[in-house]
Amino acid sequence: MAQNWTPSTWRQMPIQQVPEYPDANKLRETEQQLATWPPLVFAGEARRLKKSLANVAEGNGFLLQGGDCAESFAEHGADTIRDFFRAFLQMAVVLTYGAQLPVVKVGRIAGQFAKPRSSGIETQGDVSLPSYRGDIVNGIEFNEASRIPDPERQIMAYRQSAATLNLLRAFAMGGYANLDNVQQWMLGFIKDSPQADRYRKLADRISETMDFMRAIGINSENNSSLRETDFFTSHEALLLGYEEALTRVDSTSGDWYATSGHMIWIGDRTRQADHAHMEFCRGIKNPLGLKCGPSLQPDDLIKLIDILNPANEAGRLTLICRFGHDKVADHLPKLIRAVEKEGRKVVWSCDPMHGNTITLNNYKTRPFERVLSEVESFFQIHRAEGTHPGGIHVEMTGKDVTECTGGARAVTGADLQDRYHTHCDPRLNADQALELAFLLAERMKTGRDEKRMAAVAV
Ligand code: TRP
Ligand code: MN
Repeated sequence: MAQNWTPSTWRQMPIQQVPEYPDANKLRETEQQLATWPPLVFAGEARRLKKSLANVAEGNGFLLQGGDCAESFAEHGADTIRDFFRAFLQMAVVLTYGAQLPVVKVGRIAGQFAKPRSSGIETQGDVSLPSYRGDIVNGIEFNEASRIPDPERQIMAYRQSAATLNLLRAFAMGGYANLDNVQQWMLGFIKDSPQADRYRKLADRISETMDFMRAIGINSENNSSLRETDFFTSHEALLLGYEEALTRVDSTSGDWYATSGHMIWIGDRTRQADHAHMEFCRGIKNPLGLKCGPSLQPDDLIKLIDILNPANEAGRLTLICRFGHDKVADHLPKLIRAVEKEGRKVVWSCDPMHGNTITLNNYKTRPFERVLSEVESFFQIHRAEGTHPGGIHVEMTGKDVTECTGGARAVTGADLQDRYHTHCDPRLNADQALELAFLLAERMKTGRDEKRMAAVAV
């Protein structure tokens, strides 16, 4: 591996998952143009996120990361963004209250456009075409014209990310996320939702606490932490030409930062130690995620950590584990032991989505009980190892889709056809997402109570 890093040293490394652009000149011109445009996020914000994640790594916080599997150009409405943000805030409130810990809020949004594929070719009947690689690369429609990678799409992805981020910043800082609104976030919620009652009870307790604080002089007008929330963005750093174009030197520190999002992650398919994606990510200072699947061996994990976080800084690296409900017990403990033995500071996060995908009635789906089961195992394993189950990484939407089966309002295999809208993998709907948050809150509360008991016993 080259010692000297620049935003373009990845170009000399072997690389997986690259689209074949027919027009190399147009691609270069597009990247050059992007490189002159304003950053989407600021280095100071990425440092702030890193600090919050360091707190999680030390056991004093929880990471909530979620959003679409893939954002799409077709679904870029204000309502979609608001519905997502509202569901996300509800989850965050439930978790904050349950865990009595700060929740670090990171969306898979405002840049989550590029998708790795298991095959470069998709065949339908006797027609074979290049696979869909996300709206930033080509179109999802199954015809030749749409599947040709088009650099112009990167411009569109940049502009859509900017607009999405603008609205999210307004929601987070401009009043929508004010805890005084905890009851209003309910309103868009489907009337007969099994989670509605639970949520209303919790919202009532928060409102009561807010009333008490108001009486003693602490309110959302004079206290910004009641009024605002830190919301960060993240996506998979897959399309490295785009990432490079948005990688800039921070004038205050002199360090390189990816400015396409606050946190970026490396996929399970592109984490080869001597390949391009690892090379690119090691040189930027943003907080990083590393997806860990069943093929990752403990020794290899330590090597990857050496490359991505040589100074062993807490908050720099989040390990996003995606094994599958039936595999997590085989794989996670040995990774935890290796990391503990080497004294590496990481955030352990659970992605209970990607290891639990099945096909049912010709739909890709995920049984909600398997999602919950992987989360349960994740918590149990961390409890047994004495480590902190630091976060969750989910594919979710604020809408009432039918993409994952199960949940309190049981979605069946036959229901999948009703509202199956995802551009890629099946997402939890708002109801399922909130149900998951309640389960997490309970588990964290148990962990907290046990810690307290242990402290009293000493
Ligand atoms: N600022 C705190 C936080 O972000 C409290 C807070 C304000 C909050 N609005 C929120 C928490 C919305 C969850 C959801 O944690
Ligand atoms: Mn996905």
